[in-house]
Amino acid sequence: MSKKTFYITTPIYYPSDKLHIGHAYCTVATDAMARYKRLRGYEVMFLTGTDEHGQKIEDKARDAGVTPQQFVDRIVTGERGVLDLWKLMNISNDRFIRTTDGYHVQAIQRIFRKMYDNGDIYKGKYVGKYCKPCESFWTESQLVDGKCPDCGRPVVDAEEEAYFFRLSKYADRVRDLLENTDFLQPRSRVNEMVNNFIKPGLEDLCVSRTSFTWGIPVDFDPGHVVYVWIDALSNYITALGYANDAYNDYDKFWPADVHFVGKEIVRFHSIIWPAMLMSLGLPLPKKVYGHGWLNFGGEKMSKSRGNVVDPYILAEKFGVDALRFFMLRTFPFGSDGNFTNELLIQTINTDLANDLGNLVSRTTAMVNKYFGESLPAGCGQWAAPESFDAELREMAVGLRDRYEEQMEAFQFQNALEEVFKLIQRANKYIDENAPWALAKDMQANGPRLAHVLYNLLETTRIVGVLLTPFMPESMDKLFAQIGADETCRTWDSADRWGALPETVSPKKGENLFPRIDMEAAIKELDAAAEAAKKAALPAIELEPQATEQVDFDTFCKSDFRAVKVKACTHVKKSEKLLCFTLDDGTGTDRQILSGIAKWYAPEDLVGKTLVAIVNLPPRKMMGLESNGMLISAVHKEKGEEKLNLLMVSDAIPAGAKLC
Ligand code: MSP
Repeated sequence: MSKKTFYITTPIYYPSDKLHIGHAYCTVATDAMARYKRLRGYEVMFLTGTDEHGQKIEDKARDAGVTPQQFVDRIVTGERGVLDLWKLMNISNDRFIRTTDGYHVQAIQRIFRKMYDNGDIYKGKYVGKYCKPCESFWTESQLVDGKCPDCGRPVVDAEEEAYFFRLSKYADRVRDLLENTDFLQPRSRVNEMVNNFIKPGLEDLCVSRTSFTWGIPVDFDPGHVVYVWIDALSNYITALGYANDAYNDYDKFWPADVHFVGKEIVRFHSIIWPAMLMSLGLPLPKKVYGHGWLNFGGEKMSKSRGNVVDPYILAEKFGVDALRFFMLRTFPFGSDGNFTNELLIQTINTDLANDLGNLVSRTTAMVNKYFGESLPAGCGQWAAPESFDAELREMAVGLRDRYEEQMEAFQFQNALEEVFKLIQRANKYIDENAPWALAKDMQANGPRLAHVLYNLLETTRIVGVLLTPFMPESMDKLFAQIGADETCRTWDSADRWGALPETVSPKKGENLFPRIDMEAAIKELDAAAEAAKKAALPAIELEPQATEQVDFDTFCKSDFRAVKVKACTHVKKSEKLLCFTLDDGTGTDRQILSGIAKWYAPEDLVGKTLVAIVNLPPRKMMGLESNGMLISAVHKEKGEEKLNLLMVSDAIPAGAKLC
């Protein structure tokens, strides 16, 4: 009999900037789900990838001075790129699609043509705004203060030929899908879609562009490229081999069991995507789940806000599993969550170091201390069980069902909560039995002590099985420590008490989750974030050139002269000011104050030939008079202000006019 299949996807990511922990959130959730289904014996297809076309990429590549293909290659396959990040996070995707892959490009052209041939794509006129100098079309909403968002100049009304998809034709069917089925989850997102997008009236969608070239060409109309969302959404079927020969898994895996997507792109997945599939006459995915955002400081993480959290730093510091666990344990998947380093460390310390880590290390240490290599045969049975023996055992064998119910509803947080209730119960069971007291008289209490420890090992094993999808590497270590081999790491064994042989050889090993010193770690993280922020700043930043013109006569009124430094001292009580005594060629010394103490030591300037503007009105600073201003060049390096006094050749005599 063929295996049951499960097809799950993440969105395909824009390789426009480095991915952050918010991006990893969805991928880690998808990975946990995929591993859970594999554990249950499903044949899983887990797809992720990158969405590489569009104007934004074209623009960024131009800014970086490379071709769009070179640009995306670097971010996808380069060091610490998308592929590296998924490797770091131990993501077990079965396939990775890039929308620049040849088979996808060809399939999109076929899909576009099919929709054109069946009359759902037609040629029309796109009415918008046009910026002549930039040769760019804009929609009303893209304008900034009614002007071109690129150059700020006025735009004019314009029309452009474009292809349109008859989205309006599918409005009723899509509404029915949203309102009367479980297609879109959580349910709260349904109203949002219906009220904001469907009720106001679905308009046909413009699905081609002629204003840029970095996209998939419409093969029957040169000059048009396919709208990036048509290209991107189709990845879910092209990656299986739909309309191409690269793969042959479409019949096996389509329709998808679930698309996991962030809440801001639910609109595309729950309205446009089903309508496209209806047009193509294909089955619809079974579910779209719109998860919340991981925020930082109450706002969505984004590079422009400078609040992105770097998964590399956290994974290096705390381990990948702890990070994976934290994201899914702490925030309900359907809602937004606020990421903080404190919360991360607190979760690691409480759940992993204290509760789980202690259970494993105490149990294995006690087996080794009181019994040596292994527990005696027969320890799994006890003639007169205590009430807490039964309680622990019932809770442990019932856990798999409770966990499954939550996992099937994508409620990772609740599934983990169930697991941790058992872990806490097991730790309480240690205290209830006080093994250290039993061990005082091994002759009398040895068998009871062995039974207690077996119950703890068995509970730990069940916990280990169910935590494997979340923390695969650490659970391998946990199984090795309690001596559980492959046969008792299975889903089937997770509701079976006694699957662990009584005489396995547990070995207390390295601490699975070391406790973290909160204060020291926060300090280090803050410093690392600061350094990363700095590193991300541009190497050199220049002040934009003034656009306002100054007439020549006004400019000529400014009198610039070469001046020689006779003396230079710090101004008392001022950290910024230096006081210059200058020879300006008039025979009378000129005093100028300048706020450049941060960059120069006074003694280094004596004897230099500088440039000053000498006809400014006198100004008093810190009780001293300044007659003019020294000219310097300013710029920023990695966000830090830099200043260089304009120094000219000493061959220029004091007082020479600059013009
Ligand atoms: N390329 C489109 C998706 C096309 S799918 C056919 C896209 N890419 S994206 O890179 O901008 O975002 C990918 C996913 O990352 C989205 O689901 C988005 O919600 C998610 N996240 C980006 N930042 C996030 C957080 N801070 N928190 C949670 N998810 C976040 O959209």
